[in-house]
Amino acid sequence: MTAIRVAGLRKLFGSAPAVDDVSFDVESGSIVTLLGPSGCGKTTTLRMIAGLERPDAGEVRVGDRIVTSAERGIHLPPDKRRMGMVFQSYAIWPHMTVFENIAFPLRGQGRGARLSPAEIRDKVMTMLQSLGLEGLHDRPAPLLSGGQQQRVALGRALVGDPDVLLLDEPFSNLDARRRDEMRFELKEVQARIGVTTIFITHDQSEAMVLSDRVVVMNAGRIVQEGTPQAIYQRPQTRFVMEFLGQVDQVGARVAIGRDGAPRAHVVGACEIEVALDPSQPWRADEEVVLMLRSAAVQVRAPDGPAGWRGRVLSRIYLGERTEYVVGVGEARVRAFGPTLQMHDVGAAVALDFAPEAIRAWPAAGTARP
Ligand SMILES: Nc1ncnc2c1ncn2[C@@H]1O[C@H](COP(=O)(O)OP(=O)(O)OP(=O)(O)O)[C@@H](O)[C@H]1O
Ligand SMILES: [Mg+2]
Repeated sequence: MTAIRVAGLRKLFGSAPAVDDVSFDVESGSIVTLLGPSGCGKTTTLRMIAGLERPDAGEVRVGDRIVTSAERGIHLPPDKRRMGMVFQSYAIWPHMTVFENIAFPLRGQGRGARLSPAEIRDKVMTMLQSLGLEGLHDRPAPLLSGGQQQRVALGRALVGDPDVLLLDEPFSNLDARRRDEMRFELKEVQARIGVTTIFITHDQSEAMVLSDRVVVMNAGRIVQEGTPQAIYQRPQTRFVMEFLGQVDQVGARVAIGRDGAPRAHVVGACEIEVALDPSQPWRADEEVVLMLRSAAVQVRAPDGPAGWRGRVLSRIYLGERTEYVVGVGEARVRAFGPTLQMHDVGAAVALDFAPEAIRAWPAAGTARP
């Protein structure tokens, strides 16, 4: 069931659109992530959904309610939308205890029947427990760690039992380790409560861990949408492929075989060839860029089955494995190998990777009909 439908959202700041024709659905109880580089319009999109910004075009529905519509002149204020929000900066009250922070939305006005102090206590204590904050209810908020503060902010967003949870880079102030833990905790809490969630990040691994679906944005527009696996394995543009993981670029030139099959020959190592998707309109001699996902490339000794051949330019010992930079023709390719059997700088090596680790794109500036 669709819980949130965003249709044709547009927001201009001055004459430039910060968000342009953004449409996506969120299934009930799922997590959708808006992923994209800084300035691509993620926060502006979320603020329009929350009611903190009015769209210049488009609408947002939650269930069968239209909460905002530029065309129909509908604009429900944020506190009437039944949405909980957590932002990047710790949005908790420093002069209150943990308990009072989480209880705050329950004491607000406009919530219909007022809750009794016992009911508030019950709800807050249950929330503290589900967030692993039991025992901290009397603690003044500033005396918490960054991770605990963000859990309090999450508790405050969830305690009023919202229809929708909106999270704008909530973990970016935490160190890498706490951030990893909080991702898993959030996913657990979200699954347990079953609240429909929109999450914002510019971190592709965070999007992969958390999301049921990912909406990739660039320059105010959606460039691809799908499951984490689909966008990682089948990127539709160079931008998406580069944004979703470490890639190396290898220059190549198209040759059409006698059988009519297009192939790419690596510049400086013509004996290395890659079969190209025959459904694409490749032209003989056209320059292409091969993008290779570093994480999927393995280094081995050059004997044995055919593979890409190259020479080790540098290597770094990483403990669990070794990272290499291998010269292939004119290109430099990052690759990994075991630590037991390392290859020296200058050694000839072969590179192995699965066919889906490499994609060919027309070179920059090459117009495609
Ligand atoms: N109030 C505003 N007035 C003018 N321009 C704005 C305003 N808010 C955002 N912008 C511009 O709109 C564009 C989108 O901004 P937005 O904050 O939505 O990006 P973002 O994807 O959230 O980026 P980040 O990852 O850095 O948070 C940017 O170019 C930004 O400078
Ligand atoms: Mg932002």
